[in-house]
Amino acid sequence: MGENDKAIISHSENVSEKPRRRGCVGHCVKFWWAYLILLIVVVVVVVPVVLLVAVPKMAQHKLDEAELILDGITVTNTKTGSMTMAINSTIKSDGKVKANIDPFIGDMYLEDLEPHTPFARINFPATTADKLQTVNVTQEIEIADAHALTTFNQWLLANETLRVTVKGKTHVKVSGISKKYSVTFKKTIEMPGLMHLDGTIVNQTTISLENDELGNNFRGQAYIPNRSLVSFELGNVTFHNYLLGAEVGTVFIDNLFVRAGEVNQYLMRATIENGPVLNALGAHPYCDETKGVLPFQIRGKTVVNHGQDLNYFRDALSTYNQTVEIDIGGTLQKSVGITIPCGGLGGGDNHS
Ligand SMILES: *[C@@H]1O[C@H](CO)[C@@H](O)[C@H](O)[C@H]1NC(C)=O
Ligand SMILES: *[C@@H]1O[C@H](CO)[C@@H](O)[C@H](O)[C@H]1NC(C)=O
Ligand SMILES: *[C@@H]1O[C@H](CO)[C@@H](O)[C@H](O)[C@H]1NC(C)=O
Ligand SMILES: *[C@@H]1O[C@H](CO)[C@@H](O)[C@H](O)[C@H]1NC(C)=O
Ligand SMILES: *[C@@H]1O[C@H](CO)[C@@H](O)[C@H](O)[C@H]1NC(C)=O
Ligand SMILES: *[C@@H]1O[C@H](CO)[C@@H](O)[C@H](O)[C@H]1NC(C)=O
Ligand SMILES: *[C@@H]1O[C@H](CO)[C@@H](O)[C@H](O)[C@H]1NC(C)=O
Repeated sequence: MGENDKAIISHSENVSEKPRRRGCVGHCVKFWWAYLILLIVVVVVVVPVVLLVAVPKMAQHKLDEAELILDGITVTNTKTGSMTMAINSTIKSDGKVKANIDPFIGDMYLEDLEPHTPFARINFPATTADKLQTVNVTQEIEIADAHALTTFNQWLLANETLRVTVKGKTHVKVSGISKKYSVTFKKTIEMPGLMHLDGTIVNQTTISLENDELGNNFRGQAYIPNRSLVSFELGNVTFHNYLLGAEVGTVFIDNLFVRAGEVNQYLMRATIENGPVLNALGAHPYCDETKGVLPFQIRGKTVVNHGQDLNYFRDALSTYNQTVEIDIGGTLQKSVGITIPCGGLGGGDNHS
């Protein structure tokens, strides 16, 4: 058969050489079937391969290459079952492909915790594939999974950094092609955490031996650091207060709103048992070495915002004892003129 084919081809070539002047026309007429096959191959195979495989692959690849940068998250209007979340972000790409990306619902979850469980769902707006694009979203979120949200808050509060992934299915329309392609938007961002609010300072303190009208005998200014990019409205927060392993009272901060990038200065008030504090002040090393500076520990007890319990914040704040050193000796001297010497004031306990 191979020989026959060869024979036919050579024969054809010989024939085609005869009416040479007719040029392409004769050639094209004679080989119309070959052109038809080529056309069919292009239409049936190449175009779909480009449109159905290459372009969507390219679109997904371009989307994967783009970078999502978190500029800030602000959580306000916090209620037991909902909150308002505002996210400012920037999407950076090479800007080489003109494309429009449809709006989509993005799940947000902790990248380093399996199984990946969304703690929030965000409606992302339509975007383009411009080089630099701001995407600012403000949205009321129903808390669908309080456990996942609590875990996110725990990591945000505890960790030096944490990785959050935004993932959603959407469609992209590449300029010049009418078809829209399915793509997956998946970006992981690394953000700074609050490291247990390490570095919280309490100063400008006053002590009274009698409780005031709110039942408090201690006041001070708390300076809460702002390492993270997340600002959040907590409301009225109370803390367990421990001294040397024993619970000695309750700390209150009202209308607390921890803001990123701002000095968070708040009035801190507390109701603290006098006895254990005076005992500690009269004992080593507090009566001499630390000069009356006591290592209190605080741990979240309640978070109530306009009457709504925010357990997703409370359960995060209650997982860790944060040490805050307070100059109680100096404050006592300043406020009521008492200095406790080593060994105490004649050993007389002063329980309240
Ligand atoms: C987002 O940007 C707007 C406009 O600059 C600003 O007012 C707002 O505080 C920002 N929000 C966050 C969460 O960074
Ligand atoms: C989005 O937020 C950024 C700050 O993160 C701000 O500079 C920009 O103006 C905001 N854009 C819009 C459209 O609100
Ligand atoms: C973040 O903190 C949580 C809770 O303290 C811890 O279990 C987790 O391993 C930390 N993750 C990372 C990535 O540091
Ligand atoms: C209290 O601490 C803050 C934060 O470190 C500091 O700026 C301020 O000067 C201190 N105030 C006093 C009276 O020491
Ligand atoms: C906090 O400290 C108190 C007193 O030492 C202790 O009873 C409690 O278990 C500690 N809690 C945590 C979460 O470490
Ligand atoms: C908090 O924000 C202020 C104002 O932007 C800044 O000066 C300060 O360094 C920040 N503190 C921390 C601990 O991030
Ligand atoms: C905090 O408590 C005070 C006193 O009970 C109350 O007047 C105020 O509305 C509370 N604030 C919030 C944000 O719940």
